[in-house]
Amino acid sequence: MQNKTALPVDLYAVFGNPISHSKSPLLHGAFAAQTHQSLSYSAILAPLDQFEATLKQFIRDGGRGANVTVPFKLDAFQLCTKLTPRAKAAGAVNTLSFANGEISGDNTDGCGLIKDIVENAGVALHNRRILLLGAGGAARGAILPLLECQPAELVITNRSAEKARQLAQEFQQYGPISASEFAQIKGSFDVIINATSSSISAELPPIPDTAFKPGALAYDLMYAAQPTLFMQHAEQHHAIARDGWGMLIEQAAEAFYIWRGVRPDTARLLIKENVLTG
Ligand code: ATR
Repeated sequence: MQNKTALPVDLYAVFGNPISHSKSPLLHGAFAAQTHQSLSYSAILAPLDQFEATLKQFIRDGGRGANVTVPFKLDAFQLCTKLTPRAKAAGAVNTLSFANGEISGDNTDGCGLIKDIVENAGVALHNRRILLLGAGGAARGAILPLLECQPAELVITNRSAEKARQLAQEFQQYGPISASEFAQIKGSFDVIINATSSSISAELPPIPDTAFKPGALAYDLMYAAQPTLFMQHAEQHHAIARDGWGMLIEQAAEAFYIWRGVRPDTARLLIKENVLTG
């Protein structure tokens, strides 16, 4: 009888805290099946003060790559020995690759957002007026990818206005970006992106009604089974609302491509019900 030795499976994981809600194992499992890649992808709960130790144990155990989610994206950034330009601009890392003793960091969130808006929703960003709500990590990660689409203008607004001003200043060399206080927002926008965490607490950022151009795209980076308050509000102002589900799928697909060199087809997974109900 032939002696069959099982080949080691390539190990990947998502690290976060909490992590049980993460859809990443499901998505990467689907990508692996679709592209006939042999890999294992699990969810790892890292204790809040032990991200580094948990990650390094995973590398010692043979981990090939990892995704990183809340609250460890900045810690991951600090641990990297190599960073892509887009990870440097975002100041945060959501995709790690381990090879030859290096920890390489990338950030696929911004690219996932752009892909979902331009390709999946079919909304052009070139020459458009874009309003970005928020000045935390999620907003920061979106700025450079948005400016690379050459909008007419990118206005960033935040509850704590000084943080928006700082971000606008930091990125002004990359394109037409400015900061505004919510109450001072002038004119209407083709695309309004909610990168605040207000939807988690079912709150609404104080957007002036006049900011919504009829037919504008109102994009919430969050996703939920039901439309967020921001999406409901946007629809009442005749905007077309979209949640961050497509961005989640596309950032995962980009991470998969980085690791495996194969780009999965995301079409089926873009329909939330196909994933959430199996
Ligand atoms: P994330 O990584 O999701 O961006 P974060 O860095 O904590 O999280 O940033 C949260 C962002 O949501 C901030 O811009 C925050 O505004 P402040 O800087 O003024 O705190 C914004 N935010 C949270 N709740 C909000 C609310 N109810 N209305 C408006 N903005 C809100």
